[in-house]
Amino acid sequence: MMEKKIKPVSPADWRALRAQLNHTFTPHKSIRDEGVFNGRDRLLQQVSDTVSQPGKHVIIYGERGLGKTSFANVAAKELALAPRVTVIRKSCTVEHTFGMIWHELLHDYELDGKKANQALGDKPSVHDVFDWVNKLHKANHYVFILDEFDRMQDRDGKKLLADLIKQLSDEIDNVTLILVGVARNLADLFADHESLPRAMMQVKMPRMASDELKDIILTRVPDIGMGIEANALDATVSLSQGFPGYTHLLALHAGRAAIARQSIEIAHADLEAALQEALADVQEHIAAAYKKAVRSSRQNNYEEVLLACALAQNDEQGMFAPSAVSRALEQKLKKKLSGASFSRNLAQFCEKARGPTLIKQGANYGFDYALLKPFVLMKGVEKGRILIRDVR
Ligand SMILES: Nc1ncnc2c1ncn2[C@@H]1O[C@H](COP(=O)(O)OP(=O)(O)OP(=O)(O)O)[C@@H](O)[C@H]1O
Ligand SMILES: [Mg+2]
Repeated sequence: MMEKKIKPVSPADWRALRAQLNHTFTPHKSIRDEGVFNGRDRLLQQVSDTVSQPGKHVIIYGERGLGKTSFANVAAKELALAPRVTVIRKSCTVEHTFGMIWHELLHDYELDGKKANQALGDKPSVHDVFDWVNKLHKANHYVFILDEFDRMQDRDGKKLLADLIKQLSDEIDNVTLILVGVARNLADLFADHESLPRAMMQVKMPRMASDELKDIILTRVPDIGMGIEANALDATVSLSQGFPGYTHLLALHAGRAAIARQSIEIAHADLEAALQEALADVQEHIAAAYKKAVRSSRQNNYEEVLLACALAQNDEQGMFAPSAVSRALEQKLKKKLSGASFSRNLAQFCEKARGPTLIKQGANYGFDYALLKPFVLMKGVEKGRILIRDVR
């Protein structure tokens, strides 16, 4: 059934609507509540199936900003709904060692009258932790989730953890570890990944599908009595490039633009009008990465070549051929560069001095930091170099 939309009347009503909108779209906050979590059904199913198999563990990795923490939060809640399942979720920092991780995960438990940190000490061995975990109540299933695992710097600690997981998977059925972190591949997350047990399910978190991103908007706007036109919805989704944070960001600012002209229907023009504000509201490190990529004191083509990279046809891994970049330059930006100057630009984007912004694999290139690509596209639209419909 269609929600009945009541248009605000007084300035105070419009302000109240804006406050609701600000609350509804959360570009800078992970989701905690399953009621406002969209999509990811398959992944949730996969993780819950794995957890119910004895001796199995999970590692979830993927690009920054894909929704890993939100997923970990919601998975923790869902898993805890099963009888006799206890879920303990913690986040790693750069300071975390093997010992600290287990002090925190086992914080609420006592063994022989001792707290974990007292009993395990600063530098517990794999054996010490295994012993403790082995003494947890056998009738319960314990799921330990470690988020932001990429932040842990302690390489030896990671090795100890891999050893422990191996031993747990061989010998203990009522404990599951779920590790979550930013990484392009497993080797980036776990230098020693060959030593991980085969029983460890490895999941590369995919970008969110267009329908899932649409749902982020379509499940939220009616709740606050607003609507969105189909072309504005499609444009928001295509600019988001599979990253849910951008969907929140663009919907938030487009919604504000609609409210500013006293409309409860978000239109395509609202999205266009909102780009400048949205770009100013992205996380600081993304804006800084863009600045670093294109900075120059002289007349140059960096911005256009980078935009052409973002527009270039790419494969499933996000890699594109130089020929696709020059095609985008010519066809969409109406710009023709000499082969030499264009190749020089691509090579410069791979240098540390410019980020690196791109990585090179074989003859192809890709964005080193995938979250930068939607920003580059939005910047291109904002500067009038392309139209939103040029973005696929
Ligand atoms: N399934 C989802 N449904 C709705 N919004 C989501 C979903 N997943 C993530 N988001 C939103 O996307 C943004 C990024 O989410 P989150 O912080 O979980 O990503 P992350 O992968 O943990 O990021 P990082 O790599 O920086 O740790 C947040 O604004 C969050 O609210
Ligand atoms: Mg996170």
